[in-house]
Amino acid sequence: MAEIFPVSDEMQKNANINKADYEDLYEKSIKHPEEFWRRQAKRIDWVSFPKKIKDTRFKKDEYVIKWYEDGILNASYNCIDRHLPERANQTAFIFEPDDPKSESKHITYGELKDEVCRLANALKKQGVKKGDCVTIYMPMIPEAAYAMLACARIGAIHSVVFGGFSPNALKDRIVDCESKFVITADEGRRGGKTVPLKANVDKAVDGLDIVQKVIVFKNTGGDVEWHDGRDISWGETVLLQSNECKPEPMSAEDPLFILYTSGSTGKPKGILHTTGGYMVYASLTHELSFDYKDGEVYWCTADVGWITGHSYIVYGPLANAATSLIFEGVPSYPDYGRFWEITEKHQVNIFYTAPTAIRALLKEGDDYVTKHDRSSLRILGTVGEPINHEAWLWYYNVVGEKRCPIVDTWWQTETGGHMITPLPGVTDLKPGSAAMPFLGIKVEIVDHEGNVLEGECEGNLCIAYSWPGQMRSIYGDHDRYLETYFSQFDGKYFTGDGAKRDKDGYIWITGRVDDVINVSGHRFGTAEIETSINEHDAVAESAVVGYPHDIKGQGIYAYIIAKEGKVIDDVIKKEIVQFVRSDIGPIATIDIIQAASGLPKTRSGKIMRRILRKIAADDVDNLGDTSTLAEPAVVDELIANHKKITGDK
Ligand code: WT7
Repeated sequence: MAEIFPVSDEMQKNANINKADYEDLYEKSIKHPEEFWRRQAKRIDWVSFPKKIKDTRFKKDEYVIKWYEDGILNASYNCIDRHLPERANQTAFIFEPDDPKSESKHITYGELKDEVCRLANALKKQGVKKGDCVTIYMPMIPEAAYAMLACARIGAIHSVVFGGFSPNALKDRIVDCESKFVITADEGRRGGKTVPLKANVDKAVDGLDIVQKVIVFKNTGGDVEWHDGRDISWGETVLLQSNECKPEPMSAEDPLFILYTSGSTGKPKGILHTTGGYMVYASLTHELSFDYKDGEVYWCTADVGWITGHSYIVYGPLANAATSLIFEGVPSYPDYGRFWEITEKHQVNIFYTAPTAIRALLKEGDDYVTKHDRSSLRILGTVGEPINHEAWLWYYNVVGEKRCPIVDTWWQTETGGHMITPLPGVTDLKPGSAAMPFLGIKVEIVDHEGNVLEGECEGNLCIAYSWPGQMRSIYGDHDRYLETYFSQFDGKYFTGDGAKRDKDGYIWITGRVDDVINVSGHRFGTAEIETSINEHDAVAESAVVGYPHDIKGQGIYAYIIAKEGKVIDDVIKKEIVQFVRSDIGPIATIDIIQAASGLPKTRSGKIMRRILRKIAADDVDNLGDTSTLAEPAVVDELIANHKKITGDK
């Protein structure tokens, strides 16, 4: 646990930040934020440079968060046009298709400008206006990024929905932000299979009057239904457009995008990010966390449907004029060596993935890794969940040949960019620790009463001061925003995570302290899964918790009570699993269902989830205080039945 992997001399010598200057720089960033963030604003181009740098107060009743408020800029211009004089022929995106036999593509910054402008003009022609919301439901192909950048160019707000979500989930997300426009493709490809994106959109928008146009990119050429008047062919419309489209001047605090994520209660919330602060923060964190150097090939394996794809496939890398690799497929197809084959093929220098992928690959043995040359790799990153010790060591020793620092980046959809992370060349590494707060980020760990804990401690992870990349609201529900993030601990942003700080000041994320679970780096509210389960007609009531899972980090464990006259047998269990997959999406696959006759509740009727989590985790010697249980016998029965279904595990 205590082992340390010190920064190598080589890394230190060449790093973007000098180790000796770092502490001083951090100090200044916290003590003189105006000055620090004014300087950082210069990393991007402004139509009008902001005079007001920040106006921020976290107190719930006096809340205000404004960064660079009188600044004017355009995100698409910053990702494309400003690089053109010097780099029109440099590759912006490398596209690696799902099928390794298909050809990869290189899209230059010059070509990117043409593609984005044509699409932007097409969107305008279809009636998309500044401030309109456009839903993007695309496979992992460059056109997904073109769509985002085209929206940004004309001041439309994009809402990217991950292609693995079901028609229902897509519909909820279209309705919530009142998207009149949807951009999709006929089909996606993943692991040799096709994903029926257009058919899913058809189901989602069926009967929805608000959706006026669906723009469809022909990707596989598979058969799709066509709704004349509503459906627009990307190929036919976009190609006719001019490759010049003036970027719309936007205020720094104008919305750039909405991205839905799950909370502990209710339906998914539309996390709203604005333009100026987000761009500065995405660009700065991309450069420093990955020690990005001009000309490097950078690969983040996330999907653009998640914040990681937004900040670290599209906006951050492009703002820094990087070459960003877009991979359509999955790590296991055609075999478990695919990541390393691509690394060798495109000479990837910086590689960023999720612990769940590392665990899955580790299990398949070292040969898949070692048969490919990885000497181009310089920096490795992880994101999405805590990385266990074994996976960290394997990533470091086998994948990175003990040469590449691992940046374990802690952050959230809400934070817009990295918040706690080691910096290559600066921070000595401790496997499993996200290490230290990023520049300008003041972390506080507090107890249940909100007292700030000093030194070695464990508690709730909060952020004391605003930073430019943070979300500004939940779309359409500002009260829920204030309630969720600023009401638990007065004057602080509450992350929903627990954390420890060790004697050296390193932060160790211990996981969510609310009813959010993290399955293979995907975030779900337990309530969201329960709502879906409860729609099955055999179900009277359910309670979902996460439990430790070797590959996924957390698995989904559901306790289900049958309706009068129904039984939760194996057939019904399969039906429920299938039902939830089609209701939310295949990423929401329940791992274990336990039929129950009752749930542990307090006398006032509140489910004691703590007990359910302990039972699911096989940790029943340590149930804690059970004196408030209405019916203690329920717990004994749950434990006995849990042992029956998982006994041979
Ligand atoms: C939650 C946010 C931000 C991109 C991906 C997930 C967990 C994220 C780490 C990490 C431990 C992590 C937290 C956080 N998380 N990164 N390096 N170590 N936990 O974004 O879907 O908004 O989920 O993911 O629990 O709150 P997200």
